[in-house]
Amino acid sequence: MGRGDVSSHLDEHLGYVADPLRLAQFEAAVARVVRPGDVIADLGCGTGVLGLLCLKAGAARVYEIDSTAMIGVARESLVRAGWGEQTVFLHGKAHQVELPERVDAVVCDQVGYFGFDYGIVQSLQDARRRFLKPGGALIPSRIKLQLAAIESDTCCALSEGWRADAIPAEFHWLRENAINTKHGVTLRKDALLGAPAELGEIDLREDDPGFRSWTVEMRIEREGILHGMAGWFECELADGVWMTNSPLSDRAIQRNQAFLPIGEAVAVKAGDVVKATVMARPAEHLIAWQVEILSSGRRFSHSTWQGELLTPEEIARRNPAHVPKPSRISLAWACVLAYCDGQRTVHQIEQAVLRDHPDLLPSAGEISRFVSQVLGGDTT
Ligand SMILES: C[S@@+](CC[C@H](N)C(=O)[O-])C[C@H]1O[C@@H](n2cnc3c(N)ncnc32)[C@H](O)[C@@H]1O
Repeated sequence: MGRGDVSSHLDEHLGYVADPLRLAQFEAAVARVVRPGDVIADLGCGTGVLGLLCLKAGAARVYEIDSTAMIGVARESLVRAGWGEQTVFLHGKAHQVELPERVDAVVCDQVGYFGFDYGIVQSLQDARRRFLKPGGALIPSRIKLQLAAIESDTCCALSEGWRADAIPAEFHWLRENAINTKHGVTLRKDALLGAPAELGEIDLREDDPGFRSWTVEMRIEREGILHGMAGWFECELADGVWMTNSPLSDRAIQRNQAFLPIGEAVAVKAGDVVKATVMARPAEHLIAWQVEILSSGRRFSHSTWQGELLTPEEIARRNPAHVPKPSRISLAWACVLAYCDGQRTVHQIEQAVLRDHPDLLPSAGEISRFVSQVLGGDTT
């Protein structure tokens, strides 16, 4: 793990660790759930801070799992603090790692901005099936989704910024992408045009239906300009212990909300009713939203699918009937891995590739760097 790999993540993780309310809420949940001697899986452990809370609460062992170089930060931090004997560090995507035993509880903070937009549904479904003992606990266990009609110049700048006067006209088309994107925003209370509605609930202890659709009606309570919808979560970490990023809460963690734009700003007045439907395929990171102002009949329909900037070649590649051919780099990858026979050293593999495939990449230096990248990432 190079220092550069870690540096690109540390700013984000400083935000998580420097939020005392978030830590206090996880600590309260852990105190409710974790018993001395328990075995825990910390999914997407980042710095390892949630696993650390479990160890301090008496856990006998914690499996720390992260797909990024942050696993090295977790290892270094927990080993330095004297927890090395009780921790196992696994580098990889949670659904690709295996544990040697079942655990009493799984802990994670993968609730993103809108509750389901950071992979928690699939992550916990898999962990529940493969890692958790029967009757084991999930932290968090359920998520309530909130939605509100929003007036916000900051949000408007995110969705409309690409067609501002100062932007060269050649780039104005990117607005299509911006209005079909879920943006992260920090909202103030006064951005809300009316009370939020509870959009729906996700029980993480139940099987994931894959596709979800929720519809709510929201009453506008003041005159203003509707720029879109904002979503956030209230998640139950343990019985009676809740964590939220609601802009209305005095006990909100430091986390953005999700902003879902509409294609045009619309003037609204008190008494108007806005009907919104949000549909999601969390496993595919797809969100679609439809918004209708009932009094005027104005309707908007957007989706992150429309917001994807796909080239015609990428669209063709997604067609199940497409016949794929390996790219030059994937052939090079296969070539290097073919030398991993459990006998050769890194140096011997590098020498063999340089000798047998001198034209694999444009220069010997490129080949050496590539070999070290392949062996560093895809071998044990
Ligand atoms: C929101 S951060 C939370 C970090 C830490 N648990 C905390 O509470 O401070 C999510 C972490 O999950 C990791 N992650 C995301 N998807 C993952 C996956 N599929 N498998 C393993 N780790 C994942 C990210 O690298 C990141 O470190």
